[in-house]
Amino acid sequence: MKQSLSFDTDTLKPLMTDDFVLGIATSSYQIEGATTAGGRTDSVWDTFCRKPGNIADQSTGEVACDHYQHWQEDVALLVELGVEVYRFSISWSRVFPDDSGVVNEEGLSFYRRLAEALRSHGIRPMVTLHHWDLPQYLQDRGGWQNRDTALRFAEYAAAVATGLGSSVDFYTTINEPWCIVHLGHRTGVHAPGLRDQGAAVAATHHLLLAHGLAMQALRERAPSAELGIVLNGGPSYPYSESNADAEAASILESEQIHRFAAPILSGHYPQDFQSQVATYMRPGDLETIAAPCDYLGWNYYTRNLVKPGENGVPEIVTGQDYPLTEMGWEVYPEGLREVISILREHYDVPPLYVSENGAAFEDQLDGETVHDPDRFHYIQRHLQVITDMVQSGVDIRGYICWTLLDNFEWAEGCSKRFGLVHVDFDTQERVIKDSGKAYANLNADKARIMASPREKRIDCAR
Ligand code: FCB
Repeated sequence: MKQSLSFDTDTLKPLMTDDFVLGIATSSYQIEGATTAGGRTDSVWDTFCRKPGNIADQSTGEVACDHYQHWQEDVALLVELGVEVYRFSISWSRVFPDDSGVVNEEGLSFYRRLAEALRSHGIRPMVTLHHWDLPQYLQDRGGWQNRDTALRFAEYAAAVATGLGSSVDFYTTINEPWCIVHLGHRTGVHAPGLRDQGAAVAATHHLLLAHGLAMQALRERAPSAELGIVLNGGPSYPYSESNADAEAASILESEQIHRFAAPILSGHYPQDFQSQVATYMRPGDLETIAAPCDYLGWNYYTRNLVKPGENGVPEIVTGQDYPLTEMGWEVYPEGLREVISILREHYDVPPLYVSENGAAFEDQLDGETVHDPDRFHYIQRHLQVITDMVQSGVDIRGYICWTLLDNFEWAEGCSKRFGLVHVDFDTQERVIKDSGKAYANLNADKARIMASPREKRIDCAR
């Protein structure tokens, strides 16, 4: 008999308050499938997946978890897991399938039904507007290299906020712009698959501008929602003791963290980027980008070990000092504390959400369940770091685990399983893993603590 896994609710007690939420995240292209249903048109990922060699196992997001058909079952899973927040993203090309500027009501209503179902179960929707699936018709006109895409994004944000309005508690403009820039425009391992330094610089500015313009559109139309952006990254370490590696690590820290955090939180680009980006800037852009955020989401998985790569682009290499997940990412929970300290050292940071954190392991379905102790320990250790930070006064408002379902993991295809719920991609059968059951128990414990009289809660926390 395998021992059942359970989080140590006592040591995590500082998170068991009204000011901290526990949730789960997904993204549209990774789970929805139904890529031609309901009027949806191609995104850059549909196109990217068609090119042989781009996806490790040749899979695509065409079916993925078929969440578009199975969404009610997936809401039931979220209810069973007991989460307070569900972070999901909207497929832009479902809402605007072409450039006519006319909203596809069928696309928008899919998300309206989803948000309303979540709310009816007391789960707060956190909607990401852009989690990498840019409409292909916009890519055909230059995508994020084209300033106009930022304006189209603001229109899309306005349409979503008008359509979903008060059924959404949190809006996130863009997920991980660094990944879009670095992986999508520089190393080419993600859609749109470009390897072009100039394109990467233009995309950086236009993504940030899109964020700022969308913030204005959302503020006007969803005044009661909390608005922010999700950035990502870990602390960067030199791979060896060489000066070249130290230099590469410091370049990566600047590119991954400061190039995005500085304009958003301080209204300026880091000095080492100013001359490159100048050609794309117009008066007023920086003020737009620095629109106040109600929160900053930070996605953290691992630290970076860095050495110089081709053409001066810092290269992230696989470490050997800590256990690795299936992605080849070191399990290094301390890095979360380190990266948040870097942010707090440099900026006036708004309330934070750890908006993604999780791990891929080689899971095996074992009869009715999946034993995944490594994922459980990964989550437990990161929650412990967050608890310590909260106790020392860092304003972190939530932990949102990546992810609900095993899904289409971008260039890795369906081969890397991150879910708290196992998915059989042939039958679409969902089975909650041991880590998912433990997360459900943690959420249930939290709900019990929250329901107890306040005085007693304070007593317990002592
Ligand atoms: C993040 C992405 C998310 C998922 C995880 C593993 O960078 O935001 O979609 O792929 O990595």
